[in-house]
Amino acid sequence: MSQAVRASAPIHVKPNPSGFGAEITGLDLSHPLPPATLAAVKQAWADHAVVWFPDQPLTHDELEAFTLRIGPFGVDPFIKPMEGRPHILELRREPDEKARNFGAGWHSDWSFQAEPPAATLLHSKVTPPVGGDTLYADCTRAYDALSDVMKRMLDGLVAVHSAALPYGTKGLFAQEQAQKGDRTMQIIVSPEADKTYPHPLVRVHPVTGRKALYVSPVYTVGIEGMTPEESAAILGFLYAHMTKEDFVYRHKWRENMLTMWDNRCTLHFADGGYDGYLRVMHRTTVAGDRPR
Ligand code: SIN
Repeated sequence: MSQAVRASAPIHVKPNPSGFGAEITGLDLSHPLPPATLAAVKQAWADHAVVWFPDQPLTHDELEAFTLRIGPFGVDPFIKPMEGRPHILELRREPDEKARNFGAGWHSDWSFQAEPPAATLLHSKVTPPVGGDTLYADCTRAYDALSDVMKRMLDGLVAVHSAALPYGTKGLFAQEQAQKGDRTMQIIVSPEADKTYPHPLVRVHPVTGRKALYVSPVYTVGIEGMTPEESAAILGFLYAHMTKEDFVYRHKWRENMLTMWDNRCTLHFADGGYDGYLRVMHRTTVAGDRPR
């Protein structure tokens, strides 16, 4: 296949009415994009935080190549990648699988890392006829909607993140494995997951300069300097606030759709509801920098 960069490629960006999330058409992502087109894609991604490209039947090589056009690969711990593809995770759930679907909790990918991934790209290979949506929460508008008094209090706080709840030695996957639960995806439970990492509770997006709430029920375990009760009260309020209908976009998949989201200013949640049907997605991440 030719890797020549085509001379022109107009893109069509159709944002959701809220401005959070946009569909991008007019592109063939299996080829390198002209620099101006790639810049337009990155700008649309910065503007809308979640962007999706329908009708992109990408091979593994093409998915990897497009990911690298956005930035270098992130580090994906605790899940065995695809054979021979260290940067692609297959999120696969069989029709008869009983285990809870992967990603069924609000989170921002790998926020327990020192430098969590800026982007996640998810490519739909097999989509069920019912269910299987992904929900996204807009953490920028959620921050903007807070009172000035609440913003001032949160701005100086540091949240503690950890992978312990899902991947730790006493975590949910450890319990599932102890009960010999069946799961197609190979999860690696590890003491590494029990470590903690501090990040600002409100982070500033390095491209847009906008502030966003940066906590999640899956990976945030507390707020530095607060008692567990104080942390739980503030975090509980924030989770309810961030995931209000006003800030959430429900993404419906079609096969061969590529969706790219910004982990620096969104949370996501993989909805279930497709028992009896196969769902297969391929996922890559793009490295990010230390939250500030
Ligand atoms: C995830 O990356 O958390 C899973 C998203 C999905 O499968 O919809």
